[in-house]
Amino acid sequence: MLEGRRIVLGVAGGIAAYKAVEVCRRLVDGGAHVVPVLTRGARRFVGETTFSALASERARTSLFDDPDPIPHTRLGQSADLVLVAPATARVIGTYAAGISNDLLTATLLATEAPVVVCPAMHAEMWRHPAVQDNIATLRRRGVHVVEPEEGRLAGGDVGQGRLAEPATIVAAVESVLARGRDMAGLHVLVTAGGTREPIDPVRFIGNRSSGKQGHALAAEAAARGAKVTLVTTAALPVPPGADVVRVETAAEMDEAVRAVAPAADVIVMAAAVADFRPAAAATTKIKKDKGVPEIVLEPTVDILAGLGRTKRPDQTLVGFAAETEQLRQNAASKLVAKGADLIVANDVTAPGAGFEHDTNHVVILNADGTEREVPLADKRAVARAVFDAVLDGRS
Ligand code: CTP
Repeated sequence: MLEGRRIVLGVAGGIAAYKAVEVCRRLVDGGAHVVPVLTRGARRFVGETTFSALASERARTSLFDDPDPIPHTRLGQSADLVLVAPATARVIGTYAAGISNDLLTATLLATEAPVVVCPAMHAEMWRHPAVQDNIATLRRRGVHVVEPEEGRLAGGDVGQGRLAEPATIVAAVESVLARGRDMAGLHVLVTAGGTREPIDPVRFIGNRSSGKQGHALAAEAAARGAKVTLVTTAALPVPPGADVVRVETAAEMDEAVRAVAPAADVIVMAAAVADFRPAAAATTKIKKDKGVPEIVLEPTVDILAGLGRTKRPDQTLVGFAAETEQLRQNAASKLVAKGADLIVANDVTAPGAGFEHDTNHVVILNADGTEREVPLADKRAVARAVFDAVLDGRS
């Protein structure tokens, strides 16, 4: 897995920098071409010579090491993966804020390769909301985070903040490289967000879906090399590499989906489509002085069920099931009723899962009767597991 892969190993300043020496050795032993990049802080803890001796190229410390300065983008552009171990609060914050102030942060901003970040710091710093927000930002952008472990920290303190063990870090690198661009050649259609069904020009029937899970799915598929079309109601940033179609109502979503579906290899209906809409939306604002209005509802089209009926054998159809009770039974019935290959079931009342959260806890049910549970994880990690299941089904 590591053979011939070009890895930039970023080392930031922390006592754990000594462990990066072991990470470097293991990567090189595995056949990787390792280019170490040390920050100014790192050099206070470990010597450049140590890394230069162990790595495939001499350690870099600045953009201006050579008589001919290297372009600040070169290392990032040529890497198959950038690993930062240890990552300090400073490097994490600088990277999350999009600031380039040394060779390592320039490399992180200039790369389109997968990035694995391994934080190490004092437990108080790790717990700080600013650091946790920055980590959440990086995760949302698809950065892989190898969580720090519990244990002894510098200065004799104990808590979560210790750099993960070198074996854990190398295993994470291997698994990220294994995934690589494993969705290249696939066209993936994802829907996201809750639909809004107008009552009058200012009011609508909506739901609590934020669209975050659908956008994370689109970002993940694009990062893995798929051509992605995202049909969304959410005003969230466009995931890099995805084509976006903005819609509002179930009917608009249905039309947009049916336009793209024939060309799609994988369709993921993550949107929370309204089941009912006002039979007739008022053309002017409904006024209070006219009394309490009676709103007559009619059913919307079931987009997923429609796709299930017209599905080609080579298409993979994934539905979501937002449930508040009897998760598996309800989701399994939807899987059959709608003709899907996979259903991602989530209990929207579980702590930290479902609407508006950045995390989710799901069970992925397969039409063949198997299932895999994804414990509470950020929505990008859930997206990763969904596409792992999709690819397993297509192999
Ligand atoms: N779905 C759809 N069109 C609809 C309603 C739902 O395509 N009109 C899709 C959703 O995108 C999701 C799946 O069907 O992938 C299940 O949605 P959910 O709301 O959980 O199920 P419903 O079929 O609406 O059943 P219920 O609301 O009774 O649980």
